[in-house]
Amino acid sequence: METALTKLVGVRHPIVQTGMGWVAGPRLVSASANAGALGILASATMTVEGLRGAVREVKSRTDAPFGVNLRADAGDAHERVRIIIDEGVKVASFALAPSRELIAELKDAGVVVIPSVGARRHAEKVAAWGADAVIVQGGEGGGHTGEVATTVLLPQVVDAVEIPVVAAGGFFDGRGLVAALAYGAAGIAMGTRFLLTSDSTVPDAVKAEYLAATVKDVTVTRAVDGLPHRMLRTDLVNSLEGAGRTRSLARAVRRAAGFRKLSGLTWPGMIRDGLALKHGKNLSWSQVLLAANTPMLLRASMVEGRTDLGVMASGQVAGVIDDLPSCAELVERVMADAERVLQELAVAKH
Ligand SMILES: Cc1cc2nc3c(=O)[nH]c(=O)nc-3n(C[C@H](O)[C@H](O)[C@H](O)COP(=O)(O)O)c2cc1C
Repeated sequence: METALTKLVGVRHPIVQTGMGWVAGPRLVSASANAGALGILASATMTVEGLRGAVREVKSRTDAPFGVNLRADAGDAHERVRIIIDEGVKVASFALAPSRELIAELKDAGVVVIPSVGARRHAEKVAAWGADAVIVQGGEGGGHTGEVATTVLLPQVVDAVEIPVVAAGGFFDGRGLVAALAYGAAGIAMGTRFLLTSDSTVPDAVKAEYLAATVKDVTVTRAVDGLPHRMLRTDLVNSLEGAGRTRSLARAVRRAAGFRKLSGLTWPGMIRDGLALKHGKNLSWSQVLLAANTPMLLRASMVEGRTDLGVMASGQVAGVIDDLPSCAELVERVMADAERVLQELAVAKH
């Protein structure tokens, strides 16, 4: 199936495995790439050197194109962009809108720039700045998320920009792919569905929590970092929501210190990142501190398997997923279902 996305990045299928902190590492990304999807490595939770090593590991496991997700507002974003360019990574993906200069630098070097956006005006802005495509995430999607559902946001963005639009938030099967194409999208991007594969390195106990979740067990809370964040509702989330400000701040400082060590950031670097995060977002300093806390809470579950201590970011779609296929099986299944649905629609028309 050829679309504007497959042509733009040179993948076999119009499917993206998104960058998820601590989840989208070399194993998942190379498995997605070998399955014919666009795998995206999550780099915000890696040190700069860790990113270089991870990129090389993906390259050693696949010849297919892949991408790297980074935070445009990180103090070391330029060093990360240099790695992407030097290592010949095909796609740069951004959680927040990158600057015009960063887009130009990447494009001059031949890298395809695909920011993720959660609102029409952000899509319009990055399109005007030269982004090659956008991933648009509706409110049902996992991780930091907006309020507008994919079914409303997607047509809005498709109508607003000329560049290819990739639909994210709530996708898990071939029907979804066909629906996204019908809205005018060039493909789908999936986070939670790829987290729940046998190729994902997330510990089994954590995967089991996702598989057991119903749609109602997935919630949006601001209690973790002050921003709307979609995740499984657990005792930890309940206790964060119930905790007073002082207690959550004290915990946040401890965790931020731990993340500083793991990410290779210095305190001035973290403060710079905090300021960038605060800029234009109307966040208080305590919220900035809590934001630095999020990577540690994600790590506790996604790496250490602590379902009791960690945050399990998740799309609503976890409530309808009940198996752990390999990436190859998943992509094959989505494409076969999509082809069948398209045929059925064509038959129904005649
Ligand atoms: C565990 C988890 C971690 C995530 N981490 C990131 C991240 O580091 N950067 C980013 O741009 N998006 C992140 N996201 C959002 C996903 O990239 C993607 O947009 C979202 O999962 C799509 O919705 P879906 O889960 O319904 O497929 C994360 C999502 C999950 C579930």
